Amino acid sequence: MDTTGFGVAIMAAGKGTRLKSKRPKVLHEIGGRALLLHVIAAAKAVVPAAQIYCIIGHESDRVQSAVEHTGVQFVLQAEQRGTGHALQMVKAWFALSGVQPPQHLLVLSGDVPLIKPETIAAICDFHLRERAAMTILTAVPANPTGYGRVLRLAEDSPEVTAIVEQKSLQPHQYNAREINSGIYCFETEALFSKLDNLSTNNAHAEYYLTDVAAMLVADGKRVVATPADSVDEVLGANTIAEMMHLDAAMRLDTAKRLMASGVTIFRPETCVIDAEVTVGPDTVIEPYVQLLGATRIGSDSRIRSYSVIQRSTLGDGVTVRNGCILDDATVADNAILGPYAHLRPESRIGESAHIGNFVETKKVTIGKGSKANHLNYLGDAVIGAGVNIGAGAITCNYDGVHKHQTTIQDNVFVGSDSTLVAPITIETGSYIAAGSCITEDVPEGALALGRSRQATKPGWVAARKAIQKK
Ligand code: UD1
Ligand code: CA
Repeated sequence: MDTTGFGVAIMAAGKGTRLKSKRPKVLHEIGGRALLLHVIAAAKAVVPAAQIYCIIGHESDRVQSAVEHTGVQFVLQAEQRGTGHALQMVKAWFALSGVQPPQHLLVLSGDVPLIKPETIAAICDFHLRERAAMTILTAVPANPTGYGRVLRLAEDSPEVTAIVEQKSLQPHQYNAREINSGIYCFETEALFSKLDNLSTNNAHAEYYLTDVAAMLVADGKRVVATPADSVDEVLGANTIAEMMHLDAAMRLDTAKRLMASGVTIFRPETCVIDAEVTVGPDTVIEPYVQLLGATRIGSDSRIRSYSVIQRSTLGDGVTVRNGCILDDATVADNAILGPYAHLRPESRIGESAHIGNFVETKKVTIGKGSKANHLNYLGDAVIGAGVNIGAGAITCNYDGVHKHQTTIQDNVFVGSDSTLVAPITIETGSYIAAGSCITEDVPEGALALGRSRQATKPGWVAARKAIQKK
């Protein structure tokens, strides 16, 4: 649709008293992303960022720095005196900046985060077709308690007479079930002409934006309502419990999107998958998996139960066995991880490599086909292709002050329980004997032993028992 004449105001200045949290409401996260970022993303799908006016107030610096990268404009509402007051600040911003206000203003709530771009486009479209001064997006939820109610002229009429807040409902209005979503389209001039007449003569002693509806009707202007396709999309998040309800709805949506693109997710309701995660077709995700942040997984992979993968990129055909933890890791095609591998930031695992049971990696590059299968710590290391790291072998990367680099070239065999004291280079094709403490570089093709010799005393046990009996 054509939204050239539209600007978007997002109300995000409130504290969120009902959350009982130090964090501003609009920075609480659902689906792994702040409420406000969800709303901005939906708005940006319809108008350019420069036409989005974000009203901030409570902890405005913190809110602004969290969403600044989106390129939206900011309008300060230093004191939060209600949703009507928030829009008064927008009007003042235009007057002060000299910027021409848009012909139509879409108003979104920073705490109604599941709103979809299609619904935003639909309400703008309806608004234009109805030639309305104000259009209200509504819904009829099972329990309307807490929401403002939209009163229509007649049941089958699009025309609205007023919005009544929960606390102002008269007994004969108690059964009004159609709620105000807090999302509206205004003819900007009509809205701005009423804002200065709002009063705080109500239960919350606030300027209610919702009062504008009846004021416009009194002027003979057209105020209409249109219901959203789904109730869930317009639910607000005023308490932590409501927020978690929206979080679950959003994650289920993400899981459905992935399943629709060919991903198998067993028991999706047990998985925690962030909104920006992408997964290729024919990948299987087992129950109780978490995929967080900007994680990308290729196709034909399998993520087994209880793995937590964050900010990581996995190729095709990767197997992540049970209980792995990955943070900022890159895993190439056909690699096998776990069970219980811990890949810490900047772990770069090569094609077909194996990182096995209880292995911890950090800032490490591991080449094609290399294996570290049992109980290793590999940190600050560059490891080539075809390397075998025996059970329990570790890099000693830290001297108490500085971190040092370990280099292990192609086809090296590191025997079990070796300690490689960095900085150190183990050259191509060399062997490290099991149990060695290696402190000097090992040249190509050499065998390095760094352990004390074994002493064996035949008959020692019997001799000792004989002494103990005396
Ligand atoms: C509001 C509506 C109610 C509607 C509901 C839908 C009013 C008076 N009521 O109630 O009819 O059913 O939303 O979710 O508008 N905000 C500011 N500045 C302020 C106050 C609020 O920017 O001074 C922001 C908040 O950060 C929030 C949004 O406006 O994102 C809505 O405010 P909130 O206090 O949550 O309104 P509700 O009581 O939910
Ligand atoms: Ca609200």
